[in-house]
Amino acid sequence: MLIKDKVILITGASGGIGRAISQHLAGLGATMVLTARDQTALAHLSAQIPGSVTIPGDVTKAADRQMIVETAMERCGRIDALINCAGQAMFGSIEKINLETFQSLLDLNVVAPLGLMQLVIPHLRVQGGGSILNISSLASTKYIPNIAGYASTKYALNALSLTARAELAKDNIVVSIIRPGIVDTDFGKNTPSPEPEALRRAPDGSILPHVISPDTVAKKVAEILQSGEPELDILEN
Ligand SMILES: NC(=O)c1ccc[n+]([C@@H]2O[C@H](COP(=O)([O-])OP(=O)(O)OC[C@H]3O[C@@H](n4cnc5c(N)ncnc54)[C@H](OP(=O)(O)O)[C@@H]3O)[C@@H](O)[C@H]2O)c1
Repeated sequence: MLIKDKVILITGASGGIGRAISQHLAGLGATMVLTARDQTALAHLSAQIPGSVTIPGDVTKAADRQMIVETAMERCGRIDALINCAGQAMFGSIEKINLETFQSLLDLNVVAPLGLMQLVIPHLRVQGGGSILNISSLASTKYIPNIAGYASTKYALNALSLTARAELAKDNIVVSIIRPGIVDTDFGKNTPSPEPEALRRAPDGSILPHVISPDTVAKKVAEILQSGEPELDILEN
């Protein structure tokens, strides 16, 4: 897909990776439709991206998902691509996974992207095609102790995405996933069970060399949207 002049709806735009993707794709000429719950952060980002549209909402709520897609269509007349970026982590051993928290995580990391795909697909089909990119995680290629709750949501997202890719190829709708390793955002803190700092920072507070910048992820997102490749792992800057 050529990015210039395309209307791209992105969830999780107020946060680290979503914000970087929004800025990068806007720089390549896309009209960005930005959604997340934090209206102030969205307004701040939108002020930096001329022509962008903000639609605050909670993607775990079906009514909000519908409102987001309907408002995007009303304001932009079309949606050419959906990027499902909103997501949250969960840390803890299998024995200690809190089932209520896990249910909420499934709602955010799995049900919300699926629901948004279901709402956007008919528009893409009528328009003759389009792209869907779901932000998965490298955690969904491994079995790492203490992150199974989170990893399992991304395994599910991979299965939904790549099955959608097979189902929708006939409609010229390209579905892809990217799987970043550890990215330098507040993701590890924005969770009910914070990530051990040791995963991304050295004792002196410096960022460890394996930690990827959100800008690197944003560039890879542009590349995969352009190439239409099914999946991409991001291991380093
Ligand atoms: N950082 C990493 O190491 C890493 C690695 C691999 C994959 N990922 C994936 O990358 C994606 C983005 O992560 P990030 O690092 O940018 O995390 P982040 O900085 O915590 O951002 C998370 C984003 O999700 C949004 N969000 C959370 N709950 C929401 C809800 N109920 N409704 C709407 N939006 C919601 C947040 O916005 P509001 O709070 O404003 O709603 C925020 O914009 C996630 O899917 C994550 O699983 C991250």
